[in-house]
Amino acid sequence: MSPARHLPVHQLPDSALASLSAGAAYCLAIADPHDKARATRALAATWRAGDLPPKGETALQDRPARLPRPELKQPREMPKRKVGASISGRIALLHALSHIELNAINLSLDIMGRFLEIDFPERFYWDWLKVADDEAKHFLLLADRLEAFGGRYGDLPAHDGLWESAVATAQDPLGRLAVVPMVLEARGLDVTPLMIDKLSQIGDQDTVAVLRIIYEDEITHVAAGRRWFEWLAKQRGESDLEGLWQSLVQRYFLGKLKRPFNKPARWEAGMQPSYYEALADWYADIEL
Ligand SMILES: [Fe+2]
Ligand SMILES: [Fe+2]
Repeated sequence: MSPARHLPVHQLPDSALASLSAGAAYCLAIADPHDKARATRALAATWRAGDLPPKGETALQDRPARLPRPELKQPREMPKRKVGASISGRIALLHALSHIELNAINLSLDIMGRFLEIDFPERFYWDWLKVADDEAKHFLLLADRLEAFGGRYGDLPAHDGLWESAVATAQDPLGRLAVVPMVLEARGLDVTPLMIDKLSQIGDQDTVAVLRIIYEDEITHVAAGRRWFEWLAKQRGESDLEGLWQSLVQRYFLGKLKRPFNKPARWEAGMQPSYYEALADWYADIEL
């Protein structure tokens, strides 16, 4: 374990403090996940202190830096994730969730550094930096739980499906907003309560407490995604927001939209069933 893992604060270099977009690119280029999470939290704190302009010269890489481990596999090569009482099962679950959160850090940084040609209001940057800060917090909380069971992020293989959505939508901000927060993160709202129930039944209250924090935060992430999807669609003269969302999901999302949906949480995020029910019917009828 390197001593840097326990530094409480990541010192951002001046180059990362020229603008929020430059800071996001800096964090994306950090390979160590703990360092990346701490740098992201430091960037959020700096922005809140009020000195950074949102946009500046930004050298964004196509792919975030990463350590050689975990080994990345195709989603279909990954074993099915089950919540069980065994320690190895708990480690596998926490590892998979940590991987999702690390990808979520990268995705929220990427959206702040990539679409600089669009004149988003400053609130856009407030929202995504809050998301990035939350995801960094989630990663660190889960990594701690993983270590409590004797595991460590990188020990197990992980799937590479999450970044594929980012690559597919690198030129299409509406596609990015349609798929990442409004499909992938919304799916998290559907499945997390089941995980919380199962972990409660086996008495793992510490992990339950972490998942409750994540769940509440994720509702606000889906809400931010929906808000900026609708803002940008209207800017572009679109009036059928649900129809546009459905066509973008069909174009860019490689998985299936699956029931059951957590309708109350989706409502809270402002995602009404008119967005997703018809599309779930469509997916139910096709083979992928
Ligand atoms: Fe998260
Ligand atoms: Fe999130």
